[in-house]
Amino acid sequence: MLTAELAPLPVETLRQDFPILNRIVRGKPLVYLDNAATTQKPQQVIDAISRYYAETNSNVHRGVHYLSEQATIQYEGARRRVANFLNAGSEREVIFTRGTTEAINLVAASFGRKFLREGDEVILTEMEHHSNIVPWQIACDASGAKLRVAPINDRGEVMMDQLRALLNPRTKMVAAVHLSNALGTINPVKEIVELAHSVGARVLLDGAQAVSHLPVDVRDLDADFYVFSGHKIFGPTGIGVLYGKAELLESMPPYQGGGDMIRSVSFQRTIYNDIPYKFEAGTPHIAGAIGLAAALDYVENVGLERIAAWEHELLEYGTGLLQEIPGLRLIGTAHQKASVLSFVLESAHPHDIGTILDNDGVAIRTGHHCAEPVMHRFGIPATARASVAFYNTRQELDALAQAIHNVNRLFR
Ligand code: ALA
Repeated sequence: MLTAELAPLPVETLRQDFPILNRIVRGKPLVYLDNAATTQKPQQVIDAISRYYAETNSNVHRGVHYLSEQATIQYEGARRRVANFLNAGSEREVIFTRGTTEAINLVAASFGRKFLREGDEVILTEMEHHSNIVPWQIACDASGAKLRVAPINDRGEVMMDQLRALLNPRTKMVAAVHLSNALGTINPVKEIVELAHSVGARVLLDGAQAVSHLPVDVRDLDADFYVFSGHKIFGPTGIGVLYGKAELLESMPPYQGGGDMIRSVSFQRTIYNDIPYKFEAGTPHIAGAIGLAAALDYVENVGLERIAAWEHELLEYGTGLLQEIPGLRLIGTAHQKASVLSFVLESAHPHDIGTILDNDGVAIRTGHHCAEPVMHRFGIPATARASVAFYNTRQELDALAQAIHNVNRLFR
C-alpha cells in the first residue's frame, strides 16, 4: 500500500513514551488492542496538559493579565497546529468541539437549519457510526428532508454504483466515514467528494478513526467538513475538531449561544462573533486543545506514512493469524483497510470472547460498536473487535490469537 523505502518504526522505543503500556492487568502484561475506542497517551501529552494547569491556567480571550494572555496564545497556537495538521486554508476554519459527535451535531443542526428543506436529501453510507446517523435523522425530522442510505457489500465496502445512483439535484449533503470503526474499511472519500460536488451537494467526512492511521489533507480531499476527536489520536478526551470551509461556516447560524460567540449583546439584538468563535460558546476546553496540539506534534514526529506502513504490516499479520482459527469469521474484509480486526466465533458470543481475553490481559471491544446498521447488514448482534495503533507489536497479535484459541478450547 505504501512505499517500502520508509524507515521502519522504532516501536519498542516509542512504546516507552506510553506509561500505561507497561501496566500489568489481571496479572498479565497489558495487550492493548482497543485503539478504535480510545488511544493511549504519550508522556509528552500528559506533560503538556499538566504543565498548562501548573503554569498557565487561566481563561482565554477575556483577560488582560499575563496568564490569560499566555493561555490565549497557547489555545490559538493549538488551533493553528490543527489547521496545519489538516492542511486547512486558515485557522479560521478550525472549530474546537467536545469531539467528533459534537462536531457532527453542530453541522447537522446549523447546516440543516440553513440549507435543508422539505424534499431535500441527505445521503449516508450503511457503515456509519450512530454519531453520523442520528444527528442527520434529527435534522431531517426538523426540515422535512429525507435520509438515503448507500449500501455496503459483503466485504464491507460502499457500493459506489448505488451511491452514484442515489445522488441527484435534491441531494444537499453526503455524510460518510473515512475509516469505519466497525469494519476497518477505508472509504474512497476523494471520489465520494467529487461525486457529491458534481450534483452540488456538500460533504462531511467523519475522520474519527482515520486521523491516527492515515495522512489527511482536507484541501486535497476538497472536503466541506472534516471532523475528528482528540482522544483517538493520542490526545485527551473532551476535545475534538470541526474543520469547515470558511465560506460555509460564515453562512451558517450559530449552534449554541453564550460567551465568546458574540460581538455584542442587547435584549433587542445580538451580533455574532466571526468564525471560528461564532461556534465556540462558553469557556472552551483549553487544556484539551493544548494536549491535542502536543499529540499532533507527537504523531507528526513519528510520521503518519510510517505509522500507516507499520499498521498495514500488523493488519496483514493479524488477519493471517485470525484466519487460521477454526470457526472465526472476519467481519470487514475490504481491499482498503486499516487497524480493525472485527470478528465473530462459532463457539462463543462476542461478550464472552471479550471477558475471556480480558483474563489474559488482552483488551478488545465487543458489541455493536455504535454501528448497529452494520450488524444488521451482516446478520449478527455484535462482533469482537481488536484494533491496532502504531505502538502495537506482532507479539501482541500472537497473544490475541492465543487467547482466542483459548476461547475455542473453553467453549468446545
Ligand atoms: N466509536 C468508538 C469505538 O468504535 C467508541 O469504539
